[in-house]
Amino acid sequence: MSDRARVAVLIRPESPADLAAIRSLTTRAFAGLSFSDGTEPRVIDSLREAKALALSLVAVVDEQIVGHIAFSKVGPNVLRGWFALGPISVEPSFQRRGVGKQLVEAGLQDLRARGAKGCVLVGDHRYYHRFGFSPAPSVAPPGYPAEHFHVLPFDASLPLVQVAFHAAFSTGG
Ligand SMILES: CC(C)(COP(=O)(O)OP(=O)(O)OC[C@H]1O[C@@H](n2cnc3c(N)ncnc32)[C@H](O)[C@@H]1OP(=O)(O)O)[C@@H](O)C(=O)NCCC(=O)NCCS
Repeated sequence: MSDRARVAVLIRPESPADLAAIRSLTTRAFAGLSFSDGTEPRVIDSLREAKALALSLVAVVDEQIVGHIAFSKVGPNVLRGWFALGPISVEPSFQRRGVGKQLVEAGLQDLRARGAKGCVLVGDHRYYHRFGFSPAPSVAPPGYPAEHFHVLPFDASLPLVQVAFHAAFSTGG
């Protein structure tokens, strides 16, 4: 953990009143990042519209939304029970204070509680290894950097086929 003071947040599922705040938070969090194409807010909206936003949690401090995490089902059918983590965003002024960690842990706990088989993501190993994610380049979805593809099985089974993200990710909304 960095030397910045850890902040305690309330984590709860999104509500309809949160959508504009989630959009603007996501825009700010990804602004200017080299790996971002700026479509993340639209991806979240598209997942929601497609009823594919399996879990959407917000982190709240003093009634302000300072973090958000999305999870969606992955394909193909043989991977039923596996979910993709992302996008995840923390308000820039609240980053490196444990908000992202609390969101990831709460999301994974929720997935486990509903009997999920595991979680996958595209992200930086330096961040996600702390949650138990391991690189799995051989099953990375086409069009994504395989070296950044990670899996976290909740039991002993690993995905043995190429993972597919929901169409909302590739259309960018
Ligand atoms: C990535 C993100 C969600 C992490 O949330 P956070 O609240 O800042 O992170 P936490 O406070 O839980 O964790 C901080 C730790 O993670 C590390 N970290 C944070 N972001 C990181 C990143 N992008 N890559 C590698 N390490 C990262 C910090 O160095 C810190 O490490 P330390 O504990 O060894 O000091 C947040 O920084 C963010 O919104 N970034 C912009 C959007 C983004 O990159 N989303 C993820 C795309 S995969």
